[in-house]
Amino acid sequence: ATSGILPEDVPDMEKRKLLNLLLLGALSLPTVTMLGPYTYFFVPPGSGGGNTGIPAKDKLGNDVVVTDWLQTHGPNDRTLVQGLRGDPTYLVVEADKTLATYGVNAVCTHLGCVVPWNPNENKFLCPCHGSQYNNQGRVVRGPAPLSLALVHADVDDGKVILVPWVETDFRTGEDPWWA
Ligand code: FES
Repeated sequence: ATSGILPEDVPDMEKRKLLNLLLLGALSLPTVTMLGPYTYFFVPPGSGGGNTGIPAKDKLGNDVVVTDWLQTHGPNDRTLVQGLRGDPTYLVVEADKTLATYGVNAVCTHLGCVVPWNPNENKFLCPCHGSQYNNQGRVVRGPAPLSLALVHADVDDGKVILVPWVETDFRTGEDPWWA
């Protein structure tokens, strides 16, 4: 008489456990390996503070390289790039020919028209209902109720990385309405 477990069953069970372990390993190792690059992609270096940044894209869909950009965009230039969530966003070239550390979201805070830059007036002028914003996007005439949203324009590895702006709005001294 024996117990329910025959002696020869034991090695089989061990084998099965071992096989299961190997199978698990075979499944999970590539998964982890493959996730690596994606995780890296969605959290670019330099984004900091847990806020996800993305490379600014020019109208052709290429990443904006700062040195190239400054060769073709002079002092006080404001040119649209594709920004966070796909929002049209102005990169700003300062009077001293450096790239500003902020970008300006071009979506009018009134009813959402994309607001063109007017270099002659040194303002953003909304064609839809006449709202005006100064050269940093601060609202100076309604009906727009709020200033244009800000983003950080960081530089990482020579490229412009746009990062959500969650700090005080330097133009108004107020908390950002968009964050
Ligand atoms: Fe810009 Fe109305 S949408 S003023």
